[in-house]
Amino acid sequence: MSETRVHNLAVSLDGFATGEPQSLEAPFGHAGERLHEWFFPTATFRAMAGGEGDPAAAPDDAFASRWGDRIGAEIMGANKFGPPGWQDDPDWRGWWGPNPPFHTPTFVLTHRPRGPVEMEGGTTFHFLDASPADALAAARDAAGGLDVRIGGGPTVVRDFLAEGLVDHLHVVIVPILLGRGVRLWDGLEGLEKDYDIESTTTPSGVTHLTFDRR
Ligand SMILES: NC(=O)c1ccc[n+]([C@@H]2O[C@H](COP(=O)([O-])OP(=O)(O)OC[C@H]3O[C@@H](n4cnc5c(N)ncnc54)[C@H](OP(=O)(O)O)[C@@H]3O)[C@@H](O)[C@H]2O)c1
Repeated sequence: MSETRVHNLAVSLDGFATGEPQSLEAPFGHAGERLHEWFFPTATFRAMAGGEGDPAAAPDDAFASRWGDRIGAEIMGANKFGPPGWQDDPDWRGWWGPNPPFHTPTFVLTHRPRGPVEMEGGTTFHFLDASPADALAAARDAAGGLDVRIGGGPTVVRDFLAEGLVDHLHVVIVPILLGRGVRLWDGLEGLEKDYDIESTTTPSGVTHLTFDRR
C-alpha cells in the first residue's frame, strides 16, 4: 500500500518551520540556515554535491537518509518551489538547478498553475490547483505503487495533516527560537491521538520525532 510521508521537516522550539520574510536572497527569511545546520554535515545532504558525510552526523543521518527510500512522487507548496512572485517569471524552474534532487514526478500546489516542466534526472514538475486529496490522488497515480512524499513547506504539510492524509511524519525539533515565521502545528490540536510517536535526541542537539499512523 502506498504511504504518504513527510521527512526532515525542521521546526524551531516555538514551532516555526521557516522564518520571514521569504525572498530570493533569503528563502527561509530571518531563520537563515539555522533550521538546517544539523542536516548539512549528514551523508544525505553532502551526497547531493558528491561529497561524504561527517561521521559525527551519523545519528542524524540515520533519520535523514530515509527521505528517498521507496518514494515515487513528491508534493510541495508554491512557497517551497520559489520566492514570492516566481509565478510571474516564466523561466523559474525551482531553486535546485537543472538536475533537482527529487528524481520523480513532483507536484507543485499553486493557484497559478502552468504546464509541466521536465528537468534532468527524472524530475518533472507538474503544477496543480487542487485540494490535498485530489493532489494526493494525482501523485499516487504517478508514483507507480511507491510512496508519496509531502516535501513542505509547513502550510502544505499542515493542510495534509489536517485532512488526515499523512501516514508517516518525521519532524526535527531544532533548539532555536525564531519568534516569527510560518507555524507547523496551528489547528492540529489532538493530532497525537492518531499516531504512535517516538523521539530521539542526537548529539547535535536536535530531537527527531516520528509519527506513525495507528
Ligand atoms: N523547515 C523545513 O524543513 C522546510 C521544508 C520545506 C520548506 N521549507 C520552507 O518553508 C517555506 C515555504 O512554506 P510555506 O508554508 O510558506 O508555503 P508552502 O507550504 O510551500 O506553500 C503554500 C502555498 O502553496 C499554494 N497552495 C497550497 N495549497 C494549495 C492548494 N491546495 N491548491 C493550490 N495552491 C496551493 C499557495 O500558494 P499560491 O496561492 O501563491 O499559489 C500557498 O500559499 C519556504 O521558506 C521553504 O524554504 C522549510
